[in-house]
Amino acid sequence: MSLPAIMLPTEVSLVEVGPRDGLQNEPVVLDSKTRCHFARQLAACGLKRIEAGAFVHPQRVPQMVDSDQVLKGLVHDTDVSWPVLVPNRQGLEAAITAGAREIAVFAAASETFSQHNINCSISESIERFCEVVESASAEGLKIRGYISCVMGCPYEGPVDPETVARVSKRLIDLGCYEVSLGDTIGTGTPLQTRKLIDRLLDIIPADQLAVHFHDTYGQALANIYAALQAGITTIDSSVSGLGGCPYAKGASGNVATEDVVYMLNGLGIKHGVDLEKLIEAGRSICKILGRPVMSKVNLAST
Ligand code: HMG
Ligand code: MG
Repeated sequence: MSLPAIMLPTEVSLVEVGPRDGLQNEPVVLDSKTRCHFARQLAACGLKRIEAGAFVHPQRVPQMVDSDQVLKGLVHDTDVSWPVLVPNRQGLEAAITAGAREIAVFAAASETFSQHNINCSISESIERFCEVVESASAEGLKIRGYISCVMGCPYEGPVDPETVARVSKRLIDLGCYEVSLGDTIGTGTPLQTRKLIDRLLDIIPADQLAVHFHDTYGQALANIYAALQAGITTIDSSVSGLGGCPYAKGASGNVATEDVVYMLNGLGIKHGVDLEKLIEAGRSICKILGRPVMSKVNLAST
C-alpha cells in the first residue's frame, strides 16, 4: 500500500528569539555588550530575523534591562531584522529612540495570563496596541503580533481556539503583518496544532501566521511538523533551546533552533542557516550562562 504524498513548503523563515525569550528567564543577567555579541553570532549563522530584546519594566524582567543599548549596537546591520517586544506607548518611545525598525506587541488568549504578564485584560491590551500600532506605523516600523497561551494557560488550563482566532484577527486588523502563535507552556500536541491552524486559516492567510513552541512536554518539533503540513512557513525558535516566560511557571525553553534546522535539512526545506556555526553559538552562550545545552542535535554533534 502506498501512502499519500506529504505536502510541505519548500522554504521557511526562521525567527530566532534567543536574545529575548532565550535570556529573559535565565538566573544570570547578561550585560548589553555580551547580548550584542550573542546576537551578532546568530546573525553570522545566516539568521535574518533575530529578536534583540524587550522594552518592558526593568523590575518585571531584569534580564531585558538595557535593551536600548543592545539594539543600538545592532541596528546598523540592516541585513537583519531586529524586532523588540513593546507592551505600551512608553516601550514604543524607548524602542524608537534606540533605533527600532520592527517591534512586536504581545497579547494573550487567556485573561489570567494577560493580567499576570502585562497587568491588564485582553481587551485593555488590544486598546493599548491600537495606539502603539498607529504610532509605530506612522514612524514606518514593521509590527509583529504575539498571542500567548494558544494551546493552554498555566492559570486557566485549556484555552478555547475561538479566543485565539478572535485575538489573532484583532491583531491582524490592527496592522500586525504577522501573528506568532505562542504555546507558552508547551502543552500542545500535533493534532491540536493542526486543528488550531486550520481554524485560523479560515480567517488569516498562512503567510501571516507563525508558530512559537516551547518544548516543556517534548512536543515542539512534532507540532512544527504539523504546522508545516498545514502550510505555515514562519517558525520561531531559540538557539540551544533557551527560553521560558517569567509569568508561566514551569514552562521550559523554546524549541531549539539547531533541532529545527536539522529537521528542515532532513525534509529538504530551505532555511539559510549554517548548522555548524549555530551549534558553536549555542555552546558559547550556554558556557557564558553556565548552563547545559538543551538542543539534542547540539549535544549529539561532536
Ligand atoms: P504596569 O505596571 O501596568 O505599567 O506594567 P504602568 O503603566 O501602570 O506603569 C507603572 C510603572 O511601570 C511606571 O514606573 C512606568 O514608568 C513603568 P514608576 O512610575 O512606577 O516608576 N513602565 C515601564 N517601564 C519600562 N518600560 C515600559 C514601561 N511601561 C510602564 N514599557 C508592563 C505594564 C507591561 C510594562 C509590565 O507589566 C511589564 O513590564 N511586564 C513584563 C512583560 C514581559 O516582558 N513578559 C515576558 C515576555 S512575553 C513572553 O515571553 C511570551 C512570548 O514569548 C510568546 C509565548 O511564548 O507565549 C512572547
Ligand atoms: Mg515564548
